[in-house]
Amino acid sequence: MTRAQHFKEHLYTELSFKARHLSPLRRLYRQMRGGCLGERFTFEASEGLHPNMTWHYATSPAALAKFHRCLSESNLAESLSIVDGDSRLLAACFVIVEGDTPGQDFHVDYGQREIPAGVTGTMLTPLMAFEAPFGHLDCREGSREFEYRYRIGEAILFDGKFEHRPQVAGSPERAARVLVSWSIATEDERYRFAIQRVIDSQMPS
Ligand SMILES: [Fe+2]
Repeated sequence: MTRAQHFKEHLYTELSFKARHLSPLRRLYRQMRGGCLGERFTFEASEGLHPNMTWHYATSPAALAKFHRCLSESNLAESLSIVDGDSRLLAACFVIVEGDTPGQDFHVDYGQREIPAGVTGTMLTPLMAFEAPFGHLDCREGSREFEYRYRIGEAILFDGKFEHRPQVAGSPERAARVLVSWSIATEDERYRFAIQRVIDSQMPS
């Protein structure tokens, strides 16, 4: 079964890529945290699923291009063809957890009825190694529940209708748990408005 078939049938797939492609994003992350981004690179923060979780969205073309390049220059480029045959990168962010986060309910990223399965995707990969007590990802497919473990050089790409939740997590003092998140969606005009509304609702206003 190809990854595209697996994504269609099970609403998720896994990809692997060379970890060196993360280096420019690691540098960008350090600059963002250190407050020394070049002026063409901007990020804005919005609260994630819990106050200890923050989404730092790339809000300038140059910043988004760094996330795009990580895709296009690695095996992760396949994600754009897995989602609806031909998709584009709509948004990207660093998902940062600092401190403890409790258990969450399962959710889907694009629950709206106007958005069918197969036209949106979220891809996640760890920026740095995940070690206890960082939590991983609980996944649910029908009545089957399973755990996805974040590993460097591996990514999970799941459909907007795929049920998932971050695990209970802790992070030791001064250690941040960081994921890279890419929001991928079809170019199909029929869904563009509804998809953009979801993205806008997550982005800082
Ligand atoms: Fe989610």
